[in-house]
This record gives sequence, structure tokens and C-alpha cells, in this order.
Amino acid sequence: MKICMIGTGYVGLVSGACFADLGNTVFCVDKDQSKIDMLNNRKIPIYEPGLAEIVNKNYLSKRLMFTTDTNLAIKSSDIIFICVGTPTSKLNKSANLKFVFNVATEISKSINKFKIIVCKSTVPITTGDKIEKIISKRNKKKLFEVVSNPEFLREGEAIRDFRFPDRIVVGVNNQKHLKKMEALYEPLIKKGAKFFSTTRRGAELIKYAANAFLATKISYINEIANLCENTGIDVEDVSLGIGLDKRIGDRFLRAGPSYGGSCFPKDTKALTVTGDKFKTNLSIIKSVIKSNNIRKTLLTNKVKKILLNNLNNKKVAILGVTFKANTDDMRESLCNILIPYLNRNNAKVNYYDPTGEKTKFKKLKNVSFCNNIKMACNKTDLIIIHTEWDEFKSIDFKKVSSNKKIKIYDMRNLYSPKKMKKLGYAYYSVGR
Ligand SMILES: NC(=O)c1ccc[n+]([C@@H]2O[C@H](COP(=O)([O-])OP(=O)(O)OC[C@H]3O[C@@H](n4cnc5c(N)ncnc54)[C@H](O)[C@@H]3O)[C@@H](O)[C@H]2O)c1
Repeated sequence: MKICMIGTGYVGLVSGACFADLGNTVFCVDKDQSKIDMLNNRKIPIYEPGLAEIVNKNYLSKRLMFTTDTNLAIKSSDIIFICVGTPTSKLNKSANLKFVFNVATEISKSINKFKIIVCKSTVPITTGDKIEKIISKRNKKKLFEVVSNPEFLREGEAIRDFRFPDRIVVGVNNQKHLKKMEALYEPLIKKGAKFFSTTRRGAELIKYAANAFLATKISYINEIANLCENTGIDVEDVSLGIGLDKRIGDRFLRAGPSYGGSCFPKDTKALTVTGDKFKTNLSIIKSVIKSNNIRKTLLTNKVKKILLNNLNNKKVAILGVTFKANTDDMRESLCNILIPYLNRNNAKVNYYDPTGEKTKFKKLKNVSFCNNIKMACNKTDLIIIHTEWDEFKSIDFKKVSSNKKIKIYDMRNLYSPKKMKKLGYAYYSVGR
């Protein structure tokens, strides 16, 4: 099939490359010329394990093309995916749909024959109806069908998630067009992926309801971790003890920092706005958002407490600054709050992240990027393990720091408190 992905970010690039790998001809479009230039020079603008190989292979076989020419890509394709961002609006907490609607207008100008227009961006209920309205202004309805096909990939695991999805959700109002979507996903369905179809609005809500549920799970175990800290119970035991119940499941049940990333924070907020719009009080989700915000302050205060309430001239090493491991995504990472906080309070921060230096910290005096764990940790007062990269899981702390009185705050519970105590470290973790 001939496909075009409008928006070549995490979702557009990963799914575009994977669709090409399934034998389709794919145009990945972006209005960001520098991104397209990079990709045409076979440089990958994001960190995603395994992506470079798939992009290169399919680029060389001419199944995958990168362009800024939206008109050409639309005209050359049968299925058009909208994969642009839907960030939180500056006016309220809802999703800013400006990019989606701009794409809808561009599509409306370029339709030359029947197209299936698939919204992969996470969008509130009724957005599909609005996309349809925008395109209808210039085109007769029979020339297109708007479908919802939310994306569930996780950054860092995106290729695996595309190839072996738990389910593929497609929302259509006209059953006639479901067949083409099913045919597109057939190679994955044959390997066992569940193809689930519903109405367009239903699919839009499924994406938000899934993300809000996962955010709830994380916040829930984080609050239980707070209780564990005050009662001497190990939250890891509690996670295991409840996660073994099949009704609950053990995934997204690890205590740690506040949830972050490009999806959970914005999607939980947007869902509450949709609830209010439809006169439905989504009180659970509202309290999850509140709980997550409180957690940011809680962990920041704990860092201060570990350093005996005096951050002045203290040296702090941070290992991993992105919102989680295996991604370079800084969106809504706790470090966006923690590092400026330490900086304002005259601490000296050295940080190391396997995905490299972060532009946003470059301007901060006394915040330095280090090329490796040892450089970041040497002579530091406190090491904070903020993300769970494999290379942080078996650090020989004696080798990386000459300070024998070093303190370690392990926000991901990567080490055993007993072993760390035996080794003589002042070791702090989450819910233990
Ligand atoms: N990142 C994830 O893990 C993830 C997972 C599931 C769903 N989603 C959802 O998918 C959508 C995209 O997310 P993302 O993380 O890929 O965003 P992103 O910001 O990484 O990429 C969006 C891209 O769209 C481009 N763009 C914007 N307007 C354009 C236009 N008119 N024409 C061409 N290109 C245009 C931007 O330049 C950018 O490169 C969002 O709605 C998000 O919530 C994201």
C-alpha cells in the first residue's frame, strides 16, 4: 500500500519505518526541514533502540522516503496518517489541536482521489468529526473517510510495540472502510495481534482512558510507597504481592519518580477537560494529576532532606535526566524541576545521560554534563539515580567516587538496601 505519515516525530517516524518494513511504500512528511535533511542523510533525530537499522534498510530499498512536500505525499498515497503533536494548550489544560487541524486543511487542498485519513495523534473525543468537517469544506464526503487509529507505542520499546502490539484499535463510522485498515495491519494480525474495531469516538476515548489508567497505576503505587516509607515496609514486596493477582497485573506498578513523558501528563489533563465539557466529573483522574504534582515536590524535598537541608555548595551527581530510560525525551521529566531547583539553591550539579547533553541545562551556571558515570560522580556528595538505564544497574560506587561518605538516592530501586548498607553507604530509595 502507499502510505503517508504527516509528522515525522516519535510516532510518525517509528510507525512509518515499521510500515515500510512490512512492504508498504511510505512517505514520511515533516514541516521541519532540518529533520527531513537529517533523515535524508540517514541520521536519526531521536534516540530509539533499533530504529536506525529499520530506517536505513527501508530507505535504501526506496520503500521509505522523507520529504517536506505534503502535497506530493498526499497525492501519492492511499492512506494518510496524521501523526503531529497534540501538546497541552497554553490557554487551558486541553489538547492543542492546531497542528492536527492545520494538517486537515492541507489534506483538504491535496485530495485527488479517495483517501483514508487516519488520525494517529492522541486527540479528544469528537476531533475526528472536526477533521471531517474541515476536509468536507473543499471535498465531497465520498472522496475520503476519517478513521481513528490511536498509537500505543512506548518510547524506548517502540519497535517491539509496533511489531507485537497487545492490540490494534481502529475506530470507524463506516464499516466499509475497515477492510483496508485490516489489510494494512494483516502481517501483524497474522502474528497474533488483536485487531479491535469500534466507533471513531470510541477509539479516541480508548487512548485517553488507557493512558489515564496507567498514570493512575503509577500514582497509586507511588502513594503506597509513601506509606511504606513511614511504616518500614518494602514497596517492592507490595508491588509483587499485588501484581501477582492477574486482575491487577505487575506492569506499571513500580514505585519511582512522578510519571512524565510526552503522553501521561498531557493526556490526563486533556481527559479531565473532555470530562468537564461533557458534564462528567472525572474525579479519579483529577486526583491522580494532583498526586503526581505533589510527588514532584515530595521528591525534591527529599533530596534536600538527604543533604541535611543545606544545598549550598553541595555537589550532586544525577544519573539519567530523561523521563525514563531508553529515550532521549525530556518532556515532563522530574529533572526539569529538580535540576533548576538545585541550581537556585547553589548546589553544583554534574549530570550524565546516555543520550547526551541537554540544551535546556546548558544555560545554567554550575550545571555540567559529564561524559560518563565516573566523571559525574567523582567527589560528589550525593548521587541521584533518576532513570533505570542498564548501565546504572551495577555501578561499583567505590570506583566511581573517591568520597567515602557519599550518599546515594536511588529513585528507581535498582539496588538492594541491605547490600548497600553492608557496603557502608548512606543509601535512600523509594518506598523502602
Ligand atoms: N511519543 C510517544 O510515545 C507517543 C505514543 C503514543 C501516542 N503519541 C501521540 O502521537 C502524537 C505525536 O506525538 P510525537 O511524540 O510523535 O510528537 P513529536 O512532537 O515527536 O512529532 C510531531 C512532528 O510533527 C511535525 N509537524 C507538526 N505540524 C506539521 C505539519 N503541518 N506538517 C508536517 N509535519 C508537522 C513536527 O515538526 C514534529 O516533527 C501526539 O498526539 C502524541 O500524544 C505519542
